[in-house]
Amino acid sequence: MIIPGHLLLELALAVLVASAAHGAELCGLTPTPSCGGHDYSAVFRPAERGIDFDSLPGYTRSAHYADHALIAVESRVFAGQRGWKSTLTAHLVSPARGANFAMYLAEMSDDSSAEPAKPGVERFVLVLQGEITVSHGAKNMVLGANSYVYFPPNSTDTLYSEDGAGLLVYERVYAAGGKPVFSSGDVEESALLPTGPEVFKLRKLLPQTADYDFNVHIMDFQPGEYLWVKEVHYNQHGLLLLEGKGIYRLADKWYPVQAGDAIWMAPYVPQWYAALGASPTRYVIYKDTTLDPLLG
Ligand SMILES: *[C@@H]1O[C@H](CO)[C@@H](O)[C@H](O)[C@H]1NC(C)=O
Repeated sequence: MIIPGHLLLELALAVLVASAAHGAELCGLTPTPSCGGHDYSAVFRPAERGIDFDSLPGYTRSAHYADHALIAVESRVFAGQRGWKSTLTAHLVSPARGANFAMYLAEMSDDSSAEPAKPGVERFVLVLQGEITVSHGAKNMVLGANSYVYFPPNSTDTLYSEDGAGLLVYERVYAAGGKPVFSSGDVEESALLPTGPEVFKLRKLLPQTADYDFNVHIMDFQPGEYLWVKEVHYNQHGLLLLEGKGIYRLADKWYPVQAGDAIWMAPYVPQWYAALGASPTRYVIYKDTTLDPLLG
């Protein structure tokens, strides 16, 4: 039998329409045995499969340059550390990068504890989850999530956790030559400070006096708010994004960032942030202060 060309074409179209309506023959819409058991649905419907960058082999947003670094959640490496019992630490920023401070996460298990920092080293702890007890002289103080404690250099105070805790720790070799003192408090009870042309909310958790050579700022942005000043300064930063997401500009790079990401900013790196997404951003950031750069 000879079938005219135009009839062949109509036949082919009819089969295509029928199979599309049935949804059975197009690899990628519904996997079928006729697709050899393969499932190509990710090509046109990635949202249904989820875009899972963290498990993409070899992929990370983490980056390291001479003047900045992004340490994304998936790049943290935890290990044991002398002075910390039943605790794992992940060092995010350290003098190994040229920083004048150390910034690390401490994951404390049940019945864990920390010895005082090394002589001459000051330590700031922000409790992110769980509870710690600080032995300050004869007093025991219980600190829960969203509270902080500062140990001046040569403090002999220790801390422990009965049921585990997650901490952010900043440390540096004290360099100011003043008389910093033990302090602790709750982030929300710390006063909001004026921010000039900026719209973000600002708290500083340590006293703003020359006795201190660094401070720890808590910064809050509503979605859509961004830094007004495109800062370039000699001070260094260690930042941990606690909530939200947005774009951090570092030098000539623009990084999508989310809660859990950490950033190291070396002196003079151009820096800028815009909060995006549906929920507010909060980040905590170390900044060295008051030291004369010629002597520091
Ligand atoms: C800490 O103690 C050491 C002696 O162990 C001393 O040399 C140093 O000046 C002290 N540092 C501060 C900031 O008090």
